[in-house]
Formats: sequence, structure tokens, C-alpha cells
Amino acid sequence: MILMIGASGAVGKPTMKALVGAGAQIRALTSNDESAGTLKALGAAETIMGDLREPGDLARAMDGVETVFFVMPRFQADEAEAGSRIIDAAKAAGVAHFIYCSVFNPQVRGLDHHARKLDVEEHLIESGLNFTILRPAMFMQNLNMEWQQVTEGGVYPRPYSPDRVMAAIDTNDLGEAAAKVVLDPALHGGCYDLCGDRLTHSEMAAILSDVLGRTVTAEKRSLEDWKAAARGRGATDYFVEAYAKMCAHYDSHGLAGGNPLALTAILGRTPSSYRNFAEKFVAAKQAD
Ligand SMILES: NC(=O)c1ccc[n+]([C@@H]2O[C@H](COP(=O)([O-])OP(=O)(O)OC[C@H]3O[C@@H](n4cnc5c(N)ncnc54)[C@H](OP(=O)(O)O)[C@@H]3O)[C@@H](O)[C@H]2O)c1
Repeated sequence: MILMIGASGAVGKPTMKALVGAGAQIRALTSNDESAGTLKALGAAETIMGDLREPGDLARAMDGVETVFFVMPRFQADEAEAGSRIIDAAKAAGVAHFIYCSVFNPQVRGLDHHARKLDVEEHLIESGLNFTILRPAMFMQNLNMEWQQVTEGGVYPRPYSPDRVMAAIDTNDLGEAAAKVVLDPALHGGCYDLCGDRLTHSEMAAILSDVLGRTVTAEKRSLEDWKAAARGRGATDYFVEAYAKMCAHYDSHGLAGGNPLALTAILGRTPSSYRNFAEKFVAAKQAD
């Protein structure tokens, strides 16, 4: 049995699909009934209602489990503490293999959510568990956030320079790679930086222009304007400040580095380029 924590999110769903497609038995920890229904429909053998911060829920979820796949929900102030408790619970339950989906460049201490993931990685390394760490680059599917502006106004706005190079990955490739890592012992014990393509938002917009057959321009949105809008949507102070730091860092450095070699080796094929991703993404949106 494989326990997935964070199964309903941008990483979890494609990972679940790939695992179920390979015949794996998945138990998913979920915080609500609606997600439990979605996860069952995706093929989860079991869903356990609970909170990833509750030791009792973690003990129930990990009972009889061989493998844990853990991805933390986005921008949580207690990410390091909660992640470390999950690792401790896995150790107490006698889990054989713990897979942690971290982030690309966790060494960047100035980014709160990267630094906290590095703390979790350190805790995992020192736990005595058998582990594998995945470090995915920026999700190409983040385009969902600005899709309305792209299609209605021909503008792809981000709160940082459109001319910095970003390491990026298609989350379908990430899910497929994660499933292979879960199921293939030859991949266990690795720490994999996962990147499929490297390009600027201006280059992404040019590809979207080709695919959509209309001009799309990448623009830098004011960070103060983004913060006000995020606060208006009820975002936590931690989310707003950590996201703003990330944007300021991207504005100076992009998401630097990135090489598709590890992802290519795990997938056994060439990863999606941004153009491959955009063609599939636009076709799916137009079919909706
Ligand atoms: N966006 C990017 O470009 C990018 C790039 C690299 C890495 N990352 C990292 O990827 C990670 C995952 O992102 P994501 O978008 O998949 O995450 P997400 O959607 O924010 O969260 C994943 C799932 O966690 C579950 N969850 C939330 N609170 C819970 C709780 N208290 N107890 C149990 N489950 C809970 C929710 O599922 P239920 O509804 O089933 O409870 C949620 O769907 C983040 O840590 C992010 O930093 C993101």
C-alpha cells in the first residue's frame, strides 16, 4: 500500500493517475469529502479523512503502509514542522520508503518556502528512513492562474520580469516520473532536480501566440498590485510575503539552472517542452 499525502493537488493528481495506471494500490489522506470523492474517481483504493498536522490521523493513515509519497500544500508557514512530524510518523510506523516532493533550488535560503523544504529534506536525511527526494522546477500548468487574461486580453502578466529564464516542468511529466520513482527500486535513494525546459515568460508568450493563433504578450505586473489583490482574496500574510519574496527573487535571477537529464532518464523519453505542453493545454481548454 502506498500512502499519498497532498494527493488532490497539482502534483498529487497526475502522480495518482500514473500510479493507478501502473496498477498500484493507493491510500490517500484527504481533509474533506469533496476531495475524497475526486480521489476515489481517480482510482484511490482507500481515502482516509484527516489532517496532515494531526499525529493520530497520521498514525491511522500510515498503518500497514510500505511507501509514503508526501507533497506539502503550498505556502504553509509551519511547513518545516509539519513535514518533520510526517517523517517522524513514517519512521514510527516502520515505513520502508519515503518520497518527498520538495522544490527546485531549495538551497535558496532567502525564499521562505524553499528554506523550509530544505529543513524537511535535512530532517529526512537524518531520519534513518530510506528516502528519495524530488525537486521539481516551476509548473508549466501555473498558466492556469492567468489563463483568463491570456485568452481575453492577450496578456500574460506575472509580478516579475518576463525576460528572466525560468526552469519549468509539465506536471504530467512530474506525475509520471514520481510514479516511476515510487515503483522502481532502481530509482530509490536519489535526489532528483526535475526540469523539462528553460525559457522566459516572453518566450512562453510567443509560443502561446503560435498555438492560439493570436498575439500574446508577457508583461510585468506591479508586485504591490498583486499583493493587494491577493490580500483581497483572503490570502494569509505568510502566503503574500513568501510569494512576494519569490517574485522579487525571480525578478533578479529567474529560476536559475536546470537540466532535463534527470527527468529524461527517469521517464525514459524526452520530457515535454513548453511548446508540447502548450499544445496539449490549449487543446484541453478548447475541448472543455
Ligand atoms: N507551483 C509551482 O510552480 C511549484 C513548483 C515546485 C514545487 N512546488 C511545490 O509543490 C507543492 C504542492 O503543490 P500543490 O499545488 O500540489 O499543493 P496544494 O494544491 O496547495 O495542496 C495539495 C493538497 O494538500 C491537501 N491538504 C491541504 N491541507 C491539508 C491538511 N491540513 N491535511 C491533509 N491534506 C491537506 C489538499 O488536498 P485535500 O483537498 O484532499 O485535503 C490539497 O489539494 C507545494 O509545496 C509547492 O511549494 C510548486
